[in-house]
Amino acid sequence: MIIAFVQTKGGTGKSTLALTVAYSKTVARSFASTALVEMDEQGTLGKWWSRREQNHVKDKHICFHHISSQDKDEILELIEKLENENDLLILDVPGESVGRFHTRFACAVADLVLIPMRTSTNDEEAFEDNLLPIIRRILELDTESRDVFHIIPSFTHPLSNKSNIYGYFKDIMPDYVHCLKAVFSFGSVFENFSRGGNNLYEYAKLVKPNLKLYEQAKKAIKEVELISREIIKVVSIQE
Ligand SMILES: Nc1ncnc2c1ncn2[C@@H]1O[C@H](COP(=O)(O)OP(=O)(O)O)[C@@H](O)[C@H]1O
Ligand SMILES: [Mg+2]
Repeated sequence: MIIAFVQTKGGTGKSTLALTVAYSKTVARSFASTALVEMDEQGTLGKWWSRREQNHVKDKHICFHHISSQDKDEILELIEKLENENDLLILDVPGESVGRFHTRFACAVADLVLIPMRTSTNDEEAFEDNLLPIIRRILELDTESRDVFHIIPSFTHPLSNKSNIYGYFKDIMPDYVHCLKAVFSFGSVFENFSRGGNNLYEYAKLVKPNLKLYEQAKKAIKEVELISREIIKVVSIQE
């Protein structure tokens, strides 16, 4: 099973979502082994993983791989190898500034493509110009991919009405682009937890003495688990 976080626009939460979903308990319950795969040359997650290694943190069921190759066949071979060795692959795909090849590749190989997107004209236009043509092309070649593409409303206001946001995307998107029934809220905890190579659960433990930070961390964990449950629901319907 391959799940890819894709969005040609940078800074919409792909890497943060890939990381937090990979470490969610929901995903651990459904998949015995997960490979978190960074295809982004910028290497947000690579740096995070190095910090983790420096701290001698050992993960039982999650491994990390950074793919720096630009060669399609080489990448495909690597992905196939990782797919044989792991139950789940979570791909963190670069934004368009690095090149559209990875986006096309991930959209074509993934069983589920998750597109973090804000409710902003800017994001919607970028999506329409860059990602939608790729999705359309894939659907022309393979009509069975109609359930693959899902928006995750990202950086939403913590108090915003989730069903309104869902309805908004459902209205503006073509019927082959779905919307996940969960949102990724804007919150400082998502900017801070990963410093020092922590995952969200480790961060919560660290800040436990500070009641305010601990409450925020627990809320963030709850949200990521909800997102992960929705993701698992979508992939189990597909199977
Ligand atoms: N839910 C969130 N709320 C606030 N800031 C966030 C959130 N998720 C990520 N960020 C921050 O926004 C920036 C972009 O996030 P990132 O996950 O790296 O996006 P992308 O991989 O799409 O470029 C980072 O500085 C990150 O710490
Ligand atoms: Mg990124």
